[in-house]
Amino acid sequence: MNKIGQDINLASKYIINGDIVVFPTETVYGIGADATNKEAVDKIFEAKKRPADNPLIVHVCDLDMLNKVASDIGEIEKKLIGKFWPGPLSIIFKSKKCIPLNVTAGLGSVAVRMPDNTIALELIKVSNKPIAAPSANISSRPSGTCIEDIYDELESTVSYFIDGGNSKVGIESTVVRVIDGVVNVLRPGKISIEDILKVTDKVIMDDKCLNKVNDNEQVLSPGMKHRHYAPNTKCIAISSLEHNNIVNKINEIIENSINNITVMVTSDNIDKIIKNSNVNIIDLGNDLDEVSTKLFSSLRKLDKLNSDICYIQGFELYGLGTGIMNRIIRACNYEIIYV
Ligand code: TXA
Ligand code: MG
Repeated sequence: MNKIGQDINLASKYIINGDIVVFPTETVYGIGADATNKEAVDKIFEAKKRPADNPLIVHVCDLDMLNKVASDIGEIEKKLIGKFWPGPLSIIFKSKKCIPLNVTAGLGSVAVRMPDNTIALELIKVSNKPIAAPSANISSRPSGTCIEDIYDELESTVSYFIDGGNSKVGIESTVVRVIDGVVNVLRPGKISIEDILKVTDKVIMDDKCLNKVNDNEQVLSPGMKHRHYAPNTKCIAISSLEHNNIVNKINEIIENSINNITVMVTSDNIDKIIKNSNVNIIDLGNDLDEVSTKLFSSLRKLDKLNSDICYIQGFELYGLGTGIMNRIIRACNYEIIYV
């Protein structure tokens, strides 16, 4: 664990030198590189085994830096920035020439955000570079929300890890693009549709945020097509408009199964689950904020339990619940039982 520390000056030397560094943000950890250095950005794609058609988010520490990487910043975008930055909202702009094609996957647009984390902001500022950073994990795996979860899979390729403790939000930023005056949510997160409605009433969520995308379908964000957040253990979500139905269904499955089962439910449901010897329970916490914080590390914990299958409690598609369900549905490879 000798590459882990809290030395921002050292980390920024690696960034300036064209190397890659894992650093904390308020959402999840990122693997960062100088967003203006093509070769450095290539190292991120190699470390993550990330498909080249999936563009990266560029992190900035102030509006001057935003103006260096993006152009045509409209009134609605300015309102979103005023309300939500620094914070977990990535906005897609027209890209400027200093951003190489591997960051944008050649789309001509660039996703930018200003993270609400002092270490991240300091790293960008000291490096004096916009930092391109996807979530810190091997592609398709759950995102890293603490160093311990990701150190082993990234240690051989990453120069330095800044330890900032557990990520506060726990799921990645909301990604939006303003098209013809309408805010299109391309990935739901902590900044919910309900939050954005406080800025403008013209908001829609792309239907591909919660539905499977077919190979031949066009998408506004390449990430919608890729496999995400997948533990090695098979997962199925159990959803219902009636909270009690979920526990009843899980208990029915437990009673009729010889499989080793893990269930992931909120704290209020723990006592209601049948405690058979073949059943492990992972507590997702008391409320949506806690579920969001614990979700990715719970998916990683699951793989250490050697279960045949895992059933995950579904959540209402409202507020942060929508962002959580976007992640759960993908972790379950779109297998959901509605009861
Ligand atoms: O919270 C976050 O956003 C974290 C932290 C590290 O900031 N980063 C993150 O990056 O989640 P990543 O690479 O795991 O997800 C970025 C998403 C992908 O789904 C990608 O397709 C989309 O943003 N994206 C990036 N640039 C885009 C663009 N120009 N147009 C459309 N979608 C874009
Ligand atoms: Mg990711």
